[in-house]
Amino acid sequence: MQIIKQYIEDNKQRLLDELFDLLRFPSVSADPKYKDDVLKTADYTAAKLQEAGADNVEVCQTAGYPIVYGEKIIDASKPTVLVYGHYDVQPPDPLELWKTPPFEPTVRDGKIYARGACDDKGQFYMHVKAFELMMQTNTLPCNIKFMIEGEEEVGSNNLGLFVKANKERLKADVVLISDTSMLSMETPSLETGLRGLSYLEVEVVGPNRDLHSGVYGGAVANPATILAKMIASLHDENNHIAIPGFYDDVVELTDDERNALNAAPYNEEEYKKDLDIAEVWGEKGYSTLERTGTRPTLEVNGIWGGYIGEGAKTVLPSKANAKISMRLVPNQSSDKITQLFTDHFNHIAPPYVKVKVTPHHGGEPVVTPTNSVAYQAAQKAITEAFGVEPIPTRGGGSIPIVALFEAELGIKTVLMGFGLDSDALHSPNEKYDIFNYYKGIETIPLFYKHYAELSNS
Ligand code: BES
Ligand code: MN
Ligand code: MN
Repeated sequence: MQIIKQYIEDNKQRLLDELFDLLRFPSVSADPKYKDDVLKTADYTAAKLQEAGADNVEVCQTAGYPIVYGEKIIDASKPTVLVYGHYDVQPPDPLELWKTPPFEPTVRDGKIYARGACDDKGQFYMHVKAFELMMQTNTLPCNIKFMIEGEEEVGSNNLGLFVKANKERLKADVVLISDTSMLSMETPSLETGLRGLSYLEVEVVGPNRDLHSGVYGGAVANPATILAKMIASLHDENNHIAIPGFYDDVVELTDDERNALNAAPYNEEEYKKDLDIAEVWGEKGYSTLERTGTRPTLEVNGIWGGYIGEGAKTVLPSKANAKISMRLVPNQSSDKITQLFTDHFNHIAPPYVKVKVTPHHGGEPVVTPTNSVAYQAAQKAITEAFGVEPIPTRGGGSIPIVALFEAELGIKTVLMGFGLDSDALHSPNEKYDIFNYYKGIETIPLFYKHYAELSNS
């Protein structure tokens, strides 16, 4: 413990400066205009892995953005940890809401403000630096493999192929990921599940061209109105999702599981205050923690149609569109839900319009074990670093690759995230506390220590 703290203390400024350099790359995977920057970020990540002491570092080409790989095999008879993270980030839009530029990391009140500060550059880089620390202090007790991808925020479409084609190279005993949240620094937690995802786009088409809303309005169905009605009908009066069969495969939690989940500290007044909302909303019969962690949801992520420029234009739009995501829980299947949605949406379309549903990407839900050696090692590491035992929680977000690691490689994951839900992931002014960054670099070597010890006994 002392060695770890001393190393961090001795290298404090450099550890931060390097993260800042990483954050300066606008590695937005969703927007092709950032292509060169995304590629440069992969190169930077590879160079840093190499510097930290990794062998066989490679920027592995895919049909999309490359996957950065590196490893340190100290002894084939020792356990191997596969670290996964992503160097790509979400688009920074809307830009005007950022207090300081998204790709010029700025410290305010002890927090680093930048796109990717928490999701996931700040978090995966802790692993690179913790690895460097273990190499420099001669304390790496296990084998380690890094796989840092550049398409997580757009659905990891090429990662599945890479994993299938590299089963031998990726062989490991556990996957370790820091890309989730903790309850708070005072009440550290470990996520033990992630929701799945079905993401799709819908289009409602009416007349064959935009029309004068005075000349035709009232006589021709307005696709924007129809789309709004169709979307509104997807939740019933209890905010259950009204797609037939949607809940068929959902595993209900036992009373014990529900009680354990609801025992986590959560203050509804603070929650509402933080978001400036008068009331929370959601499926009847479930608490906020259950709604975000253990229940499936359906959300409109974007909706448009007609004239949205300056001033007014009297127009009856020819079509209207929406992007819709559904978060899934065990044992729902992404493909099945996408099909149910598509069938239902076509079914409820009135005869005045044509509808089209286009699936984007998906991912399966996962629950991670809490009785494994690796989970216990994470528990011990956090307890040692934070002085309190972590609480198990269920995360609301999705990391599709976790289910894939299990299916393809047969490896379970430990989700040891150090972010906070209030870190504004995907929002303007994303941040990551400098304290969390150092705390992560301190906790990770403790994980390796305990994992090696527990694996041996
Ligand atoms: N790191 C997040 C997922 C996350 C955030 C999990 C907070 C738990 C707590 C990840 O980068 C992410 O944003 N995933 C996407 C899914 C992807 C397919 C675009 C998501 O959850 O929307
Ligand atoms: Mn992430
Ligand atoms: Mn993300």
